Amino acid sequence: MSNNPIIVFEGIEGSGKTTLINLLSKYLKKKKKIFIKFREPGGSKNSEKIRKFILNNKSNLNYKTDLLLYLASRSENYEKLIKKNYKKKIILIDRFIDSTIAYQHYGMGINKSLILKINKFILGNIKPDLTFLNLVNKNNLKLRLKKRVNKNKYDKFAFSFYNKVQKGFKKISKNNRKYIIVNSNNSIADNKKLLINTIKKIL
Ligand code: TMP
Repeated sequence: MSNNPIIVFEGIEGSGKTTLINLLSKYLKKKKKIFIKFREPGGSKNSEKIRKFILNNKSNLNYKTDLLLYLASRSENYEKLIKKNYKKKIILIDRFIDSTIAYQHYGMGINKSLILKINKFILGNIKPDLTFLNLVNKNNLKLRLKKRVNKNKYDKFAFSFYNKVQKGFKKISKNNRKYIIVNSNNSIADNKKLLINTIKKIL
């Protein structure tokens, strides 16, 4: 693996991926490693604008428009953040290609090969080197959904939708050594240990 890998954090809402990515960036800072960190949708200036457009509470864009905007956001990130830093800096991303497959294909039913084709058009052969996939058990997912605050359009979906999306993430990661499964029901301390031990092995 490259000394400057692309490391992605995936999982459904409330699965703890943002906590983990923040823990990793603290660790990398302490170790004086050079890295960039961004989220999708969002990241570069234009992508943050696209994020607001897709995710604001009043958004009534249809699911095909959403797909094209998630990909537009990725395309902006490729040009502004990924291309120039690829293999020069560690790249940490909060959601990436797998979120599009999990939400837009497994969740919304959009054709998978269409999504993969546009991703390839945007990214060429660039792929994540390692993905931490955060999984939540069904009971905890129900509890989290009850307590949630509607921060954005995608926070309003029903349990069955997130269940489909999480099953999609599981399918994507099955039998693939590039995925580290994080059990979000474990303590943050335990998951931090798993995270840092994995990173120590690859950097
Ligand atoms: P988050 O940044 O708080 O995780 O929320 C982003 C939302 O966008 C989340 O509901 C998942 C959704 N999303 C997609 O549906 N497809 C995508 O390709 C990406 C990157 C995010």
